[in-house]
Amino acid sequence: MGIEINENTALYGIIGHPLRHTLSPAVHNAAFKACGLNAVYLAFETLNPFTCLKAAKALPMKGLSVTIPYKSLIVKHLDFVELTASEIGAVNTVVNREGKLHGYNTDASAAVEALESVIKLQDKNCLVVGAGGAARAVGFALKGVCRSLTIANRTRRRAESLAMSLGCHWVPLSEATNVKADLIINTTPVGMHPQTGSVPIPERALEHASAVMDIVYRPKRTAFLELAEQKGCLTIGGEEMFLRQAAAQFRLWTGFEAPFELMKDTFEGAMKGIE
Ligand code: ATR
Repeated sequence: MGIEINENTALYGIIGHPLRHTLSPAVHNAAFKACGLNAVYLAFETLNPFTCLKAAKALPMKGLSVTIPYKSLIVKHLDFVELTASEIGAVNTVVNREGKLHGYNTDASAAVEALESVIKLQDKNCLVVGAGGAARAVGFALKGVCRSLTIANRTRRRAESLAMSLGCHWVPLSEATNVKADLIINTTPVGMHPQTGSVPIPERALEHASAVMDIVYRPKRTAFLELAEQKGCLTIGGEEMFLRQAAAQFRLWTGFEAPFELMKDTFEGAMKGIE
């Protein structure tokens, strides 16, 4: 039985572009239902993120998830930004508290939790591929935890700027093969459905790697993870970080502990339906 939508139903949603393949609505709506909350979560594919923020206040909406390509862009347009998110310079979670929009970042802790559930970070030389909002979160989370950190990005200026704020090394994407990394994390959308055949860096870059994480969660096994597995690497799929960041969003919005196992089952069920 679905929830009964009525005059008290709280509205949540996700803004990004493109959004056709997001599983956030399935996962959050299942969590709301399981916790008996009168709330719905919708996908808003938009080219106007700032208008969406105004709408979130005007309607009002209670919370928003923010994804590619707006995580960094929206930071300056919020009323308050929590310290970690402000240091990272990227917000993936907005909470509307009495008409004021508060920004948080749940990607950073989700990335570290997903990695630490299977590997030790202290002895890893890490290569983060990408320099967007997700890379900023992963980079800040890893900084000071792993042995060394290098950023590789297509646009040099962005790689340099992120490396400057992290105090770490950077290389252009074309030179990622020169980095002797034992943990590689893809934070770019390369390999995401429907362009599932692409990998973010050439096979040679995996030569020294023992573990690879991809933050792309659709498909569940990206071409990059398949390649890493063939090379004997431990692989960590995007759903690990996705589910943890979603659970943290749920806690921020509702004050309730997220029904993690149910969110995971919902995610897996939805993936089976589309893969
Ligand atoms: P998000 O905030 O979700 O991280 P973003 O800020 O748009 O999204 O960042 C996307 C990242 O993926 C960027 O590092 C981007 O590289 P550029 O800085 O060169 O734009 C990277 N990216 C996106 N498409 C890519 C592609 N086809 N090849 C390589 N990198 C790509």
